[in-house]
Amino acid sequence: MKTRITELFGIEHPIVSSGMSKVAIPELVIAVCEAGGLGILASASLTPDEARASIRRIREKTSRPFGINITMKTPFAADMCRMVLEEKVPVVNMSLGRDARFFAAVHAYGGKVVNTVTTEKHAKAGQAAGADALIVTGHEAAAHGGAVTSLTLIPFLRDAVDLPIIAAGGFADGRGLVAALALGADAIAMGTRFATSLESPLHQNIKHAAVGNSVADTLYSVNFDGLPCRVMDGPEARRQFKRPMTLVKACMKALIVSRWMKVPLSKVLRMIWEEPGEFRMRAHWGAFGIQARRGIEQGDLEHGISPIGQSQGLVQEVLPAAQIIRNVVQQAEEVRARVNASMTAGQGETVVLRPVSHSA
Ligand SMILES: Cc1cc2nc3c(=O)[nH]c(=O)nc-3n(C[C@H](O)[C@H](O)[C@H](O)COP(=O)(O)O)c2cc1C
Repeated sequence: MKTRITELFGIEHPIVSSGMSKVAIPELVIAVCEAGGLGILASASLTPDEARASIRRIREKTSRPFGINITMKTPFAADMCRMVLEEKVPVVNMSLGRDARFFAAVHAYGGKVVNTVTTEKHAKAGQAAGADALIVTGHEAAAHGGAVTSLTLIPFLRDAVDLPIIAAGGFADGRGLVAALALGADAIAMGTRFATSLESPLHQNIKHAAVGNSVADTLYSVNFDGLPCRVMDGPEARRQFKRPMTLVKACMKALIVSRWMKVPLSKVLRMIWEEPGEFRMRAHWGAFGIQARRGIEQGDLEHGISPIGQSQGLVQEVLPAAQIIRNVVQQAEEVRARVNASMTAGQGETVVLRPVSHSA
């Protein structure tokens, strides 16, 4: 399956493993890359030195291209960009912002840039800033999907920009891959599906809950981390969904998290000084670090929260990442053949999409 994305990155399959804080660790990235996809390392909960060590671990285990996600709202974003230029990471995925000068610097060492967007305005801004491709994230996604679902957002942005598109949000199997390509995308990024893989460090409780949950068992609100965010339904998530943390409490928790992450107080104060309008959002963002640790790392949804997408309802078992990729590719081939046969027959034949067998 060759697409503009497989050509751009030099990968075998049009399948990307999303950058996910605390989840997209080197082991997951390596497994995805070795299986012919593109693994993206998460850096939002790491210091630049920790991220550099992760990049080097990946390079020790695979010679294939891989990516790193830089989430722009984090205190270390600028330092992370500098470190990525030094390490010359093959693919840089920037979310929650863009920076044309940085994109040009990545191009100067031969790297590729993918900008994550959820709106037409940001898609056009990403294109104007020099991105090589976009990750377009629909409403179904874990964490920060947009207001519009993938089904309408992907074709809408396909018409709005020329760049290759990686569709994200709700994609978890071969049916989703064929659908994304039909909508005008050139690849899919899967977060929830790879978060529930064997190599993912997401706590067992959350993986098993995801396997048992339906597509409806998520909550989407600005109350969790200060931006519209989708998480797994659970006791703490419900409490916060109904009533957000007070600003004072969020500030106190954010300070605790900044100490865990070794963020100098001067940096915290400079962020507040430079963008006072984002103060509330940043406080909740920081405080979310405590709940994410309890949810993602400790599997405790009574006191913690874990991002998860609606596609959890499509996950039937925890599998190795390579097996997930094989299943997606195999099912996509079957679905494509069936759709082709049905369309060329032109007899109004019903297309039956059987559930994929995950135990292949
Ligand atoms: C546990 C978890 C953590 C995530 N952390 C981040 C993050 O730090 N930065 C980011 O841009 N997206 C993050 N995401 C969102 C994914 O990058 C991706 O957009 C999303 O999972 C795609 O939708 P899907 O879950 O339906 O596949 C996270 C997702 C999960 C499941």
